[in-house]
Amino acid sequence: MAKTLLLKNAAELVTCRGHAPKCGPAMQDIGIIEDGALWLEDGIIRKVGATAEILAGISATPDTVIDATGRCVLPGFVDPHTHFLFAGHRAEEFSWRLRGDTYMDIMERGGGIINSVRATRQASADELLAIGQRRLDSMLSFGVTTVEGKSGYGLDAVSELKQLTVMAELDRQHPVEVVRTFMGAHAVPAEYKGRTDEFVDYLLQDVLPLVAEQRLADFCDVFCEKGVFSVEQSRRLLTAAQSLGLQAKVHADEIVTLGGAELAAEIGALSAEHLLHASDAGIRRMAETGVIAVLLPATAFCLREPYARARFMIDSGVPVALATDFNPGSCFSESIPLVIALAALYMQMTPAEIVTALTINAAAAVGRADRIGSLETGKQGDFVLLDHPSHLYLPYHAGVNCVATVVKRGEIVYERPMR
Ligand code: NIG
Ligand code: FE
Repeated sequence: MAKTLLLKNAAELVTCRGHAPKCGPAMQDIGIIEDGALWLEDGIIRKVGATAEILAGISATPDTVIDATGRCVLPGFVDPHTHFLFAGHRAEEFSWRLRGDTYMDIMERGGGIINSVRATRQASADELLAIGQRRLDSMLSFGVTTVEGKSGYGLDAVSELKQLTVMAELDRQHPVEVVRTFMGAHAVPAEYKGRTDEFVDYLLQDVLPLVAEQRLADFCDVFCEKGVFSVEQSRRLLTAAQSLGLQAKVHADEIVTLGGAELAAEIGALSAEHLLHASDAGIRRMAETGVIAVLLPATAFCLREPYARARFMIDSGVPVALATDFNPGSCFSESIPLVIALAALYMQMTPAEIVTALTINAAAAVGRADRIGSLETGKQGDFVLLDHPSHLYLPYHAGVNCVATVVKRGEIVYERPMR
């Protein structure tokens, strides 16, 4: 007998229906059903529609009933770009940035990512597992049911594999689904200082093949940035990863305009991320080739940099997703409410576009739009209930977490205490 769940009377059931990333005006179409209901069997959505229609079509008594009267119900949020698994913190560096130092100044002085690499190399797998559990708990409370996590605080075979293996274990143990990205090219470690090409050779020969063989990651990402990895070095790594079956992602044009967006289009990357300084030509090439733009407004906010040009990208036909970029340096925040507020107020994205960017387009950015990111027949029963009747409250209730209940694969996995 299948385990069944009925959700009924949702003031607004936001389905976000679709199996592919949406671009242009389609980002506005979030498929709202008023007074909506869902019927799930064994964690999979089997029926979606108006409450009266769904109730008329069921004969069995459901195992679980959720009454969503007065609440907006949306697909669980997907956070498609984070570096959530790291040891140690860099609060002091943040205080230096408040004083006027730039992110790159600190990195050039030997701080930044390398600082977190030191702590993460030292941490045991068990310690990282415990850290990861707590961070995923927090993300879940913001309605995140799937998260992408990048390695890149190991920068050697043993420590990169440790990070990816711990993320695989977290995926098994925690309700939040964890999608893994290999990002060995996140920074040049101290032992390869001044020898970036040799470090790229090392990653290509000694790390990437292990990651691929052991199926530890679905994606490969590179910090393609002036003073870190050049376009040429990024191309070498990403095309090698593609030939081993990993899809490419690029940290592109975050600090300066370097041609990361163009590279993503050229090699057929799934996504280009950050894009604060992406050129017009790069954005047009992304639109032509269907590269998803993963935008990270909380990082621009924390770095006091200009926001990515979401409006221009959407109007140019680029599918846009949003993410937190949760990491110990440029953005120590897993706050979805912050991302939503910034996207609405500073990136000229509409509430509906923001919902698309955090659900179906974010699911597409982690290669899972066939299973998650929308509420429709055949998809996983991942959804959130807000303590408001409409998605319009997401940006309106500025900076506040509106998520009251989270369901993952048909199980209630989070309920916020009443406030
Ligand atoms: O997305 N830019 C590179 N990676 C992160 C920052 C990582 C860190 O500072 O630890 C980012 O901004
Ligand atoms: Fe990042």
